[in-house]
Amino acid sequence: MRIGSLTVASNLFLSPLAGYTNLPFRLVVREIGGVGLCTTDLVNARSLLEKNKKAFKLIETRPADSPLAVQLFGSVPEEMRDAAMCLESIGIASVDINMGCPVRKVCTVGGGSAMMTELNKTAALVRGMARAVKIPVTAKMRLGWDDENLTAPDLARALEDAGAAAIFVHGRTREQGFGGTVNLAGIRAVVHAAKAIPVVGNGDVITPQAAKRMFDETGCAGVSIGRGAFYNPWIFQHTLHFLRTSETGGAGSPLPAAGANAIAGADQVPRSTSTEGALPPEPTFAERVRVMCRHLDLMIEVFDEPLGCRMFRKVAPWYAKRFGPCHEFNKRAVQISTRAEFHEVLGDYIRWRQQFLGDDGQLQPRFRPAPMIASFMREPASAQREQIAVPRGPVAAW
Ligand SMILES: Cc1cc2nc3c(=O)[nH]c(=O)nc-3n(C[C@H](O)[C@H](O)[C@H](O)COP(=O)(O)O)c2cc1C
Repeated sequence: MRIGSLTVASNLFLSPLAGYTNLPFRLVVREIGGVGLCTTDLVNARSLLEKNKKAFKLIETRPADSPLAVQLFGSVPEEMRDAAMCLESIGIASVDINMGCPVRKVCTVGGGSAMMTELNKTAALVRGMARAVKIPVTAKMRLGWDDENLTAPDLARALEDAGAAAIFVHGRTREQGFGGTVNLAGIRAVVHAAKAIPVVGNGDVITPQAAKRMFDETGCAGVSIGRGAFYNPWIFQHTLHFLRTSETGGAGSPLPAAGANAIAGADQVPRSTSTEGALPPEPTFAERVRVMCRHLDLMIEVFDEPLGCRMFRKVAPWYAKRFGPCHEFNKRAVQISTRAEFHEVLGDYIRWRQQFLGDDGQLQPRFRPAPMIASFMREPASAQREQIAVPRGPVAAW
């Protein structure tokens, strides 16, 4: 798949999750495979230009973490342009602009979701950036401010004219936060609005089947996954396999010659008429533990032991969500300060967990975690009840 001058190996993307999509997590996801492009947490353009240490830590990368997009936020066109040039000069593959963040601190300075309400100003900002660099400049937005203002299609069109190389769209409004169902028809409207650039759909994709549904029903050129990758870093690899073994649609299919997205005619809804693809087996408990330990090692390598362990306190429980009974693990994992402590907690947990295993060494069926189902693949009433957890942290309101 192409995004401007950049070719990516798969059309599955890691969405930015501030506080989570740091270098160690990106490396974990890339080592497992299947992801085409990862994006950093959002970075303040001005802080980059001021050579702020924290901002530079957010964009820390290494060759194995490539291709990498850095997501910028800011509303001053010159700062955004200069920050894009700075990123290009240090070898970053792509620059994404945050137009979806609903957090007040970002919106009150005219960044994040506020950009969706000022079409001309936002287009001018993108034009300035796109003219200044050769790497692709992309935009990540929500469907609009609220249901009365679904501005994403108009904005996408204006940004394409201004030189944006791709649009990433989370299928919810700013007002929705993370509640309710992802609106596939809304994403589809953005796909229709774009003339030639790829539109990448996003929101609640937590299974390969959900990714396929998003491709099939929206005609999007790619799918971006955030929290689903935190639940399950194997999701990209599994989704690629699922799509490639499905009869139609998705990441394994060649894109149509007519445009970057999979929709050719204006009114046809590409329904999922395909046969189901093959799902690779769920990762075993041992494999989940191996990857979790690798994640911690990378956290310590990148952030040093005290900080890496502190940061890992909020990561470990995400792995544990698929362990089966896990309260014994979580209550201690959220207190670790050293690698040795973590391994002690893990060893104790593995012994404790044995009581839930059958003769075959697997979790007994009644202790197995329930299968995951995306909001837009459930009955509406249950979609409201069972939302995906939003990771805790400074941006829990995203
Ligand atoms: C904790 C958290 C942090 C986020 N940080 C960012 C961010 O820095 N930039 C951004 O564009 N979106 C951010 N988002 C939104 C996600 O990229 C994504 O659009 C949203 O979570 C829906 O996709 P998902 O259901 O696959 O997670 C964040 C979401 C969460 C839950």
